[in-house]
Amino acid sequence: MSDGQRASVDGLGPTDDWGRDLDILDHRFVDDPAAVWRELRDGCPVAFTERRGRAWMPVRYDDIATIANDTTHFSSRRVGVIDLPDSQREGRPLLTAPPITSDPPDHTWARRILLPAFSPHQIEVMTPITRAVARELVDGFADRGQSDAARDYAQHIPVRVIAHMLGVPASDEDMFTDWAVRILQEGFNDLQASLDAIIEVLQYFGVRIDERSAIAHEDRPDDLITLLLGTDVGGAPLDRKHLLGTCFLLLLAGIDTTWSALGSSLWHLATHPDDQARLRAEPELLDAAIEEFLRFYSPVTMAREVLDDVDAVGCPMHAGDKVLMSFPAANRDPAHFDDPDTFVIDRQHNRHVAFGKGIHRCLGSNLARMELKVALEEWLARIPTFEIIDPDAVTWTGGQVRGPRTIPVRW
Ligand code: HEM
Repeated sequence: MSDGQRASVDGLGPTDDWGRDLDILDHRFVDDPAAVWRELRDGCPVAFTERRGRAWMPVRYDDIATIANDTTHFSSRRVGVIDLPDSQREGRPLLTAPPITSDPPDHTWARRILLPAFSPHQIEVMTPITRAVARELVDGFADRGQSDAARDYAQHIPVRVIAHMLGVPASDEDMFTDWAVRILQEGFNDLQASLDAIIEVLQYFGVRIDERSAIAHEDRPDDLITLLLGTDVGGAPLDRKHLLGTCFLLLLAGIDTTWSALGSSLWHLATHPDDQARLRAEPELLDAAIEEFLRFYSPVTMAREVLDDVDAVGCPMHAGDKVLMSFPAANRDPAHFDDPDTFVIDRQHNRHVAFGKGIHRCLGSNLARMELKVALEEWLARIPTFEIIDPDAVTWTGGQVRGPRTIPVRW
């Protein structure tokens, strides 16, 4: 399909200048973002766009780190890389999803509340549960000789794990996945569907919180909803808006992200037989391989809102502008990584920022790493050498979270 044949989401037609008219939903960017980052890095290291409101996108590691570390000028209250046009946003309350949408000083305590739920002990508790989920899924297709590594496998693991941790029924999985898709993947084309889904998530947790509150303290199950309900801040329980916003975040932060990272890893192994063979022969490489999957295929881009007019990373930014925090671009910066556009399965120095940088660095990073490790171990243990059936059938999402959504493989 040629550029002209593709309908542009914003109705402006395809861009011919990535530096001055960036379009992160352009299929050329979604298909091969690294080519665009390379071009920008050499000519215009902070791209600009007015397509969906004013936004900047630095591609250098140091510039992204500068903004991530500057919470005085850059707020997290609007972290979506694309939102409603200004005219439609007026009067609508902002979604608060603490701590990801919190700025200091509130961010500090909103994050601290959640730390116990992601402790090394909790990750250990979740490991056999994750393994059981992975095994059950592989059991479903191992004998078939083919499957969709995204739809039959990667998609299901993080949602089942987080449902368990939150204490919500696994039988609601399809609804959770549908929300993640509508909010994080399809929201760019249909913002109303995304807003409707946000309301559904908040209503869902409203009911779960009421049910849980009706149970005596000592009889409540040990899960994240109970943790949040039992939290006191300055002698007062968390207010309902905070409770709902945090549940919303915990459900959605780990689904699409980990599903994308696992999908990219399996896609890579299916399309790079040498790396697949090496990982099978040297399973001790798995930890390094996972870090390289995370660096090379970093799924998550976040946003910041400029609070006051400011000159930052060489650009005259206006209050209300957005800055797209392309952690994926930072991970390909030759100033920080040797030969960054080459996938090196046993890369030694790999201080990537796939999980972000600064105060908002991912709280679920160790959980995600465990899920990736267990899921890859279980897949490699049961599925013999595998390959893509039809490369053209593989589809990738772009925008906030990039990852393959269909990966037909056979063995
Ligand atoms: C491979 C999978 C994952 C990736 C690549 C990823 C990436 C990120 C990134 C880039 C941020 C920083 C956001 C910012 O700077 O605005 C973040 C924050 C966060 N992530 Fe993850 N994430 C993953 C999995 C998870 C999982 C499994 C959870 C569990 C619920 C989780 C929970 C969170 C939370 C709560 C925050 C907000 C932390 C804060 O604001 O202090 N993430 N993640």
